[in-house]
Amino acid sequence: LVDTAKKEIDNAEDLQQLNLIRVKYLGKKGLITSQMKKLKDLSQQERPKFGAVVNKAKSEVEDYLNNRMNELYRIEKQKKYEKLRVDVTLSGARKDRGHLHILTKIQKELEDIFISMGFEVVEGPEVEDTWHNFDALNTPEWHPARDVQDSFYFTDKILLRTHTSPVQVRTMLERKPPLAIISPGRVFRRDYDSTHLPMFTQMEVLYVDKNVTVKHLKYTLEEMARKVFGDSAKVRLKPSFFPFTEPSYEVDILFNGKWLEILGAGMVDPNVFKNVGYDPNEWSGFAFGLGLERIAMVKYGIRDIRDFIKNDVRFLENY
Ligand code: PHE
Repeated sequence: LVDTAKKEIDNAEDLQQLNLIRVKYLGKKGLITSQMKKLKDLSQQERPKFGAVVNKAKSEVEDYLNNRMNELYRIEKQKKYEKLRVDVTLSGARKDRGHLHILTKIQKELEDIFISMGFEVVEGPEVEDTWHNFDALNTPEWHPARDVQDSFYFTDKILLRTHTSPVQVRTMLERKPPLAIISPGRVFRRDYDSTHLPMFTQMEVLYVDKNVTVKHLKYTLEEMARKVFGDSAKVRLKPSFFPFTEPSYEVDILFNGKWLEILGAGMVDPNVFKNVGYDPNEWSGFAFGLGLERIAMVKYGIRDIRDFIKNDVRFLENY
């Protein structure tokens, strides 16, 4: 009986099985326990001998059980820790990290370039009135840019700004010259195709001082072009027209062997100075406005402006 018990104990695979074996042999109705009950059927002489044998069997099985129990307990604990074990030599799991949007990066890059030249960043409201957005900038009532077909109007006098130039007006009204400011921000026009978005980002640059000439304008443009597009970038001015500048220029930049039309520029029109209370005989200045999406598209060869707002990570993670 003891031998079969031992064999069963050896074969027990876990503590639960072991417990069943304990009950089977040593429980109240267990195989060994019930041997004790035979004592009363035996003679006086035989009883002590038999009792000793059964007791010995009982403690032997008990010890054997306890040993196996300790062993199984150790094994189970080991298994548990094995599961928790960390291999410190494995390489770490990669977590995808976010980063700044390409347009934000371009904006910061341009801000840094102009700040290093002594310009200050100024912001203004996205909801404007027609006076700041058009009239003060010498844009007459009949000008096509004022048309409801082209701009987002809330009322006949309030609209989403169509360019960042009204920030020039606001700043000149608030401060006395000289002035060197840039104003980045969102602007809004009724347009939507692969090169136009109804909401895009502009940066306006304004410099006002005594005796400012086209040379200062061209130098500033060249400096910017070299820093954004590399040392070999060149700048070319072509005559153009804007209501708020005279003369006005379309600015081309030579990049990767191609002349690309990138921005509008000019010398601040005397009428604009008059509208903000600056004396045009004393003060002169240049201004230009550029689209950040356009700069990014040229620099990185992006073909569809709508990619900037699609939030497709396959696009975003390239820049
Ligand atoms: N405000 C003009 C535009 O939105 C750009 C510009 C700014 C042109 C300053 C000349 C001078 O198109």
